[in-house]
Amino acid sequence: MHSEQRTALVRPRDEGGPAAATAVAHPNIALIKYWGKRDEQLFLPRTDSLSLTLDIFPTTTRVRLAPEAEQDAVTLNGSPATGEARRRIIAFLELVRERAGLSQRAVVDTENTVPTGAGLASSASGFAALAVAAAAAYGLDLDATALSRLARRGSGSASRSVFGGFAVWHAGRRTGTGTEADLSSYAEPVHAADLDPALVIAVVNAGPKAVSSREAMRRTVDTSPLYEPWAASSEDDLADMRAALRRGDLEAVGEITERNALGMHATMLAARPAVRYLSPATLTVLDSVLQLRRDGVPAYATMDAGPNVKVLCRRADAERVAEAVRGAAPGGSVHIAGPGQGARLLSGGGR
Ligand code: DP6
Repeated sequence: MHSEQRTALVRPRDEGGPAAATAVAHPNIALIKYWGKRDEQLFLPRTDSLSLTLDIFPTTTRVRLAPEAEQDAVTLNGSPATGEARRRIIAFLELVRERAGLSQRAVVDTENTVPTGAGLASSASGFAALAVAAAAAYGLDLDATALSRLARRGSGSASRSVFGGFAVWHAGRRTGTGTEADLSSYAEPVHAADLDPALVIAVVNAGPKAVSSREAMRRTVDTSPLYEPWAASSEDDLADMRAALRRGDLEAVGEITERNALGMHATMLAARPAVRYLSPATLTVLDSVLQLRRDGVPAYATMDAGPNVKVLCRRADAERVAEAVRGAAPGGSVHIAGPGQGARLLSGGGR
């Protein structure tokens, strides 16, 4: 897994003409969840989190500086971006321009390969790809740590997609805000013995979210009596997870993954008003995962801000796990992912 844990550093290359750069990044699935911010402006999380970057559903983003333009032009899968998606991308470009000391607008074209309506977050791969492409196009020479910090400002989980394989995102300093806090919160690769893991993704409902994860995490932190205990236990989960990864103990990695996710959902269920992302179909898939374990197949579930289930298992068991969850959620789609690479520049850069 070592090569997957490295990420390409951005070195701008001058191509002449208006600067342009294209980057690719993959989604990641958290095994130890990020749920709750302590600074919404800087995207500083309350707790450390740990994830596996996938090898499916890449996002490819091209950023071209447009010296003649008065506004940024943003397309997502060929259509002009609108609303909140557009606002977040432009806010991110403003941050990059401020760092680069440039005011030129940009043309941003993003292609997402997550099947439309799959209900899987694309903000992690999206902002990791945008961070790498925009940094290169605007001539910022950033190492992987700095890119991770930058990607964090688009979406917290994007900080982890800068790296391949397993990555931990440090919450950083627990007090204070501003530059020192910002500098202290970034992701980095985690060493793991060879687990040969797979994540089987069961898409049980492709509909839009009832509550955005941003709003849901805010409400949970503000109102859930279970939030602080979960945040404290998540620190223990992380320590246990690191040890399990070092040992290459897939069963332990899976057990910790599942308990951390169920605990996160418990915090939301106790929020006021409650946030419930898990649907009847989610529970049916969870039952099929329990049955797999009873049948001797190590398989463990995790869910994010939606009803879909990601099942961690050994690569050798992935087809069997996929078949079981397909049977449990017949209306949905099932995808098998392995560990993927970190975000990287495909071409271009430089002013
Ligand atoms: C449940 O990274 O999408 O997937 O930082 O507000 O953009 P923002 O949130 P986002 O939240 C991800 C939450 C999660 C858990 C995780 O990926 O760690």
